[in-house]
Amino acid sequence: MSIIHELKNRRAIRDYRKQDVEEEKINFLLDAATWAPNDKMREPWSFYVLKGEAKQRYEQLAKEYLQERFPTKPHLIESSLNVLTTTPVHIIVTSDIVPNDPEATKDNEYAVCCAIHSMWLAAKELGLGFVWRTRGVGLVHDERLYQFIGSPENKRVIGNVFIGYPNVEKITKMKQPKRTSYKEKTTWL
Ligand SMILES: Cc1cc2nc3c(=O)[nH]c(=O)nc-3n(C[C@H](O)[C@H](O)[C@H](O)COP(=O)(O)O)c2cc1C
Repeated sequence: MSIIHELKNRRAIRDYRKQDVEEEKINFLLDAATWAPNDKMREPWSFYVLKGEAKQRYEQLAKEYLQERFPTKPHLIESSLNVLTTTPVHIIVTSDIVPNDPEATKDNEYAVCCAIHSMWLAAKELGLGFVWRTRGVGLVHDERLYQFIGSPENKRVIGNVFIGYPNVEKITKMKQPKRTSYKEKTTWL
């Protein structure tokens, strides 16, 4: 296995089969996350796994959010809710806020981003589809999500990751990914 090959072939997978994700695979992803680089070994991540009944409560919360946000767009609400009901697992990932230390707080967020990326690659190894969501039904920027996970003190939500076995039929129809060359993004000083 080449790391570069895996990096280049990682994709945001948003369509899943109707199949549960085994707990041991979820644990594998969580373990992978904890090996991410992090400043001063603060290990600033926490994970909130949503399956079954908790996921249903989350769907209800997202419904309220969508109805409030898009009162004139019932189709958008319906399709967004469909995204949720067809996703077997969500993991909400938070980063520790270091009181009175905005720089350390920011470094913690960077570390949590690395952790989420590690989970994303690990998911690929397990044949799982994965996408990191912040907007819309990810609810990352909505206060309700904090309440949902128990309003933990000094934690900032960084991502809501959606996980499931990929719906292969939909995946094969995905557009070929493209990236701007690093040459256009690089200044050699
Ligand atoms: C911080 C972050 C937030 C994202 N938020 C969303 C989101 O809210 N909804 C979504 O569908 N995808 C989201 N994505 C996934 C990106 O859309 C996806 O990574 C991008 O389209 C590139 O595709 P690729 O991951 O297949 O290379 C997010 C990715 C990152 C890193």
